[in-house]
Amino acid sequence: MNNVTPLLEVRNLSKNFGPVQALNDLTMHVNPGEVVALAGDNGAGKTTLIKAISGVYRPSAGQVMLKGKEVSFSSPQEARESGIETIYQDLALADNLTIGANIFLGREPMRKAFGFLPVLDRKKMAEAAKSTMALLDFHVNRLDAPVSNFSGGQRQAVAIGRAVYWNAQILIMDEPTAALGVPEQRKVISLIHQLKAQGRGVIFISHNLQDIFAVSDRIVVLRRGVMAGERRIADTTHDEVVKLMVGG
Ligand SMILES: Nc1ncnc2c1ncn2[C@@H]1O[C@H](COP(=O)(O)OP(=O)(O)O)[C@@H](O)[C@H]1O
Ligand SMILES: [Mg+2]
Repeated sequence: MNNVTPLLEVRNLSKNFGPVQALNDLTMHVNPGEVVALAGDNGAGKTTLIKAISGVYRPSAGQVMLKGKEVSFSSPQEARESGIETIYQDLALADNLTIGANIFLGREPMRKAFGFLPVLDRKKMAEAAKSTMALLDFHVNRLDAPVSNFSGGQRQAVAIGRAVYWNAQILIMDEPTAALGVPEQRKVISLIHQLKAQGRGVIFISHNLQDIFAVSDRIVVLRRGVMAGERRIADTTHDEVVKLMVGG
């Protein structure tokens, strides 16, 4: 055991929808520089958990702690402002805009033309796009192209880049590799390694055990809303994880 304060801690978290107990008394944490995989069959409660963390749902019971302090978000916007960024499968990028414009979506930098006329600071946006993507070791040479021109993996990188630019300390990714080809999956996995090396915390939801084993430090398995098991990746196998998922 060490005594690092977790970046994120969830204590006895429950969420019910009427009579449906989607999440029941769940306790878990994410340390700085740690990737924690969240696995479980459909309906296990994975999405409910991340939505209860990221301000989409209010927990029915339990606590969410950020760097040791209890937080209670009433919107995803509030969670984002506290450094928790969630990247869903549908990436919420604006297809017709550049990488820079996507990084600043809703938070556009302005400058004054002729000393008084407020205009979009496109130069700042392009520079941020370039430096952020380079930080992720993801080199795109078409900074003026709309993101619709990029591949699935590159678009995933843009979404991650946006979180990194705004200094998210915790990235929650729901199936980030699901829609990608194999080389692109590798690239996203290597991006997650980068985030880890930068000391960020990652919660990684995936159905792909190979991806989970390639990138995670620990795995939390949910079954019908409860913790079915938690293992260090180094101490478990695909077989054991599948058994935890299906129970029996
Ligand atoms: N908004 C909702 N209203 C009612 N029931 C829900 C809602 N969201 C999820 N559930 C139920 O909660 C359980 C967990 O769902 P979910 O968190 O989406 O699981 P997973 O992401 O692991 O597939 C399921 O039984 C699901 O039907
Ligand atoms: Mg889900």
